[in-house]
Amino acid sequence: MRIDVLTLFPEMFGGVLTSSILKRASEQTPDPKDPTRHRSPAVSYHLTDIRQYTADKHGNVDQRPFGGGPGMVMQCQPIWDAVGAVEKQDPRVPRRIVMTPQGRRLDQRLVEELAREQRLMIIAGHYEGIDERVVRRLDPIDEISIGDYVLTGGELPAMVLIDAIVRLLPGVLGDEQSACHESFSQQIGGLLDHSHYTRPQVWQGMEVPDVLLSGDHAKIDAWRREQSQHRTAQRRPDLIDGASAQ
Ligand code: ADE
Repeated sequence: MRIDVLTLFPEMFGGVLTSSILKRASEQTPDPKDPTRHRSPAVSYHLTDIRQYTADKHGNVDQRPFGGGPGMVMQCQPIWDAVGAVEKQDPRVPRRIVMTPQGRRLDQRLVEELAREQRLMIIAGHYEGIDERVVRRLDPIDEISIGDYVLTGGELPAMVLIDAIVRLLPGVLGDEQSACHESFSQQIGGLLDHSHYTRPQVWQGMEVPDVLLSGDHAKIDAWRREQSQHRTAQRRPDLIDGASAQ
């Protein structure tokens, strides 16, 4: 997968995309089945500074809003030109995304859908927002929010989205199963995950549930399923309604 990010603050992405799993996903790794061979990277990241595309001789990319009000609005021209230039860098037509608190709320179902794309182009807005006309002109475009709260810009939301997607790409997580049976995934019906335990068997007088030590995998699976349903009913009943509607 190729991921393009258009932002006024490319430096914000440095630490996130060059650490841990997101970094490893963008590198060649030895093939576990044949260590003499290498697997090609699961993803490549391409950051573009929108300011480089402004036609304004002072380098401005934003202006005060028509109609008055606080803050500044990102102008159409630099974004439009940046998108045009970036899209030409690769023959794959990207799925266009703009991060905004007015967008569709991100959930695991949408993450799983986006993880099947060949190329994503994510616009991270800043200031009060983006001139509506360029968003309309870029249609088809998904407007995505990471939750009902407002951040200073779309950069952190873009990183959240990238993290959620890249960990689902084939080969990125060591154990391919580990992204399958987790909270919200389709494999567990969009419910919350069950609880987890590891050594020691007794910690501060608290014991691991007996069933997990029984070695009976059918029983363990049934216990986990039941746990998952119970937790979801207690903590997130909205997910149960959502799950039955799917
Ligand atoms: N930009 C600012 N707040 C945001 C949010 N909650 N989701 C996506 N983009 C945003």
